[in-house]
Amino acid sequence: MLKLVLLGPPGAGKGTQAVTISEKYKIPHISTGDIFRKNVKEGTPLGQKAKNYMDKGELVPDELVVELVKDRLNGSDTQDGFLLDGFPRTVYQAEELDKFLAGRNQKLDKVIDIQVEQAVIMERMSGRRVCRNCGAPYHVKYHPPKQDSVCDLCGGEVYQRADDSEATVLNRLSVYDKQTSPLLDYYEKSGNIVHIEGVGGPEAVFDKIAAALGASTV
Ligand code: AP5
Ligand code: ZN
Repeated sequence: MLKLVLLGPPGAGKGTQAVTISEKYKIPHISTGDIFRKNVKEGTPLGQKAKNYMDKGELVPDELVVELVKDRLNGSDTQDGFLLDGFPRTVYQAEELDKFLAGRNQKLDKVIDIQVEQAVIMERMSGRRVCRNCGAPYHVKYHPPKQDSVCDLCGGEVYQRADDSEATVLNRLSVYDKQTSPLLDYYEKSGNIVHIEGVGGPEAVFDKIAAALGASTV
């Protein structure tokens, strides 16, 4: 089973591709953004801490994120394979992930970097809607739910995220440039990163990812 990381700026299509990758390669999808949003919705102590950062488009502090991901990776379904979406997001998080995996004699098979230019990102984000229950992403123009405001996958309510306003998206892009893009170099050194141009429809992007995973899918 594959151990994968999905990298890319906000709105690149990580969550969209994650749904298909997780289904086709039979690996659990772990989205730190989805986990935080669920905690915010349920009003847990973690959610209360994370909300302020998320609403401003800032990163949640490393120490909160790393422990959460380690706990999740200790689950019985993630011992042999997983798809991390939105984690790691800082070099520190990447180092902690590598150490954690080394501790169980594992390493990442591939890091998939989805690249999309800023103008396209702004259009995607302004039309983006997500399921409040399962986190599945939609778009008013490119991928509307079959029934208005109802998730195709789980029947949950489809809504607009609080951090998708234009000003917050611009801040998230700048946070990505400063704090997350150094990870490209980090993974370039380990030699297992692939760069995917995230344009074309979701199916076309998935085909590029599948081709890049190629023989490593067994
Ligand atoms: P998170 O939820 O991870 O947000 P993000 O990285 O900003 O990514 P998005 O979910 O916005 O975009 P995406 O790339 O998944 O795109 P999508 O598939 O939806 O994080 C949110 C917040 O949580 C962070 O700001 C931070 O505060 C906190 N957080 C999370 N993880 C953290 C961590 N590790 N450390 C610290 N803090 C953390 O697609 C976008 C839109 O485009 C959709 O509408 C979709 O339908 C459409 N679309 C997708 N692909 C295509 C295509 N090929 N063609 C046309 N439209 C498309
Ligand atoms: Zn749903």
